[in-house]
This record gives sequence, C-alpha cells and structure tokens, in this order.
Amino acid sequence: MIEIHQLNDFPHYAPVLAYWSYHQWYSKRDIPFTALVQSYIERAHNSNVPLAWVAINEKKLPVGMASLKNNDLWSRTDLNPWLASLYIVPEYRFQGIGDRIVKAIIAKTRELGYKTLYLFEGHNDTVNLIKYYTKRGFSVLEEAIDNDGLPTTIMYINL
Ligand SMILES: CC(C)(COP(=O)(O)OP(=O)(O)OC[C@H]1O[C@@H](n2cnc3c(N)ncnc32)[C@H](O)[C@@H]1OP(=O)(O)O)[C@@H](O)C(=O)NCCC(=O)NCCS
Repeated sequence: MIEIHQLNDFPHYAPVLAYWSYHQWYSKRDIPFTALVQSYIERAHNSNVPLAWVAINEKKLPVGMASLKNNDLWSRTDLNPWLASLYIVPEYRFQGIGDRIVKAIIAKTRELGYKTLYLFEGHNDTVNLIKYYTKRGFSVLEEAIDNDGLPTTIMYINL
C-alpha cells in the first residue's frame, strides 16, 4: 500500500529526493548536489511554497516525489507556483502513484489560495507527458525554452 505524504512527515528522506532530482535533471548543470540537499531539507520544514511530497511504500521507504515551487522555469519567473520534479522510481511506475502525487499537489495548491498551477514538460521517452497532464486537468499555455535551452511546453490548471 503506497501512501502520499508531504516531505514534512519524512524529513530524513530529503537527501534521497535530492539525489533523484540531481540524477534525473541536474547532473549536467552547474549546480552542486549539496545545494539540492539543502533545498530539499528546507522543503521538508516549510508550511508554504516550496514544498515537497514523497510516496512511501509499505516498508516506509520512499518510491516517488514531486515539489511545489516558485521560479521553476527560469524564462518565465512571472508565472507561479509550479508543479515540479515529478519522479517515480522505475519499478513503481504505471501503478497510479504519479497520478496520486499530482492530485495531492493540486489540492494543496488550491488550499494555499493559489488560482493557477503551472508545469513545464520534461523530456521523457516512454510517457507522452502532454497527454499525461491533460488527462489530469492541465491545458497547454504556450511553447517555451527550458532551463537547459531545449524546447518545452508550459501547461496550467485553474484551481
Ligand atoms: C512520468 C512519471 C512521473 C509517471 O509516473 P507513474 O506513477 O508511472 O504515472 P501513473 O501510474 O500515474 O500513470 C502512468 C500510466 O500508468 C497507467 N496506470 C495508472 N494506474 C495503473 C494501475 N493501477 N495499473 C496499471 N497501470 C496503471 C495509466 O494508464 C497511466 O497512463 P494514463 O496517463 O493514460 O492514465 C514517471 O514515468 C517518471 O518518473 N518518469 C521520469 C521522470 C519524468 O519524466 N517526470 C515528469 C517531469 S514533467
């Protein structure tokens, strides 16, 4: 049985989430791993943005994550907040865990009083992310350039 928690409930897993994030998105950027660890430790103790979520398995081990943060897309810092860094460990994919984290973040963002939640499309060879997020209520806003200089699509959901 998988449970979705805010990272505040499992703050000791902050370095694990930082490692996944580094491995998946940051290793080719000029951002040190320790900076990511620091940012996840902060998210584990916040009550407002930036926040992180962790999926926990029956052995109380982390199997997925996502964050709610500001300024995720460096070319559009006028749009906030962002659903960011959705990641499920490979052996736990296609079980609806990503879907449950997305729903938890939408609910919390609404509870915090925001009217719109944004995301930008990552690069994924196996999942059509536009289709994935459209099914979960997001719409395409516009094309953009991501933080690595690659084309991406900004999506949004009205809360
Ligand atoms: C993209 C990613 C987060 C999806 O996570 P996930 O937990 O596998 O996603 P879900 O299980 O919610 O949905 C994937 C598909 O699994 C299927 N699925 C959902 N529940 C299922 C179940 N109980 N049994 C079998 N299949 C199921 C669904 O068909 C779903 O497709 P849909 O969009 O047509 O509904 C994951 O592939 C990942 O971490 N990828 C690498 C990082 C990445 O690309 N992140 C996105 C950044 S924008």
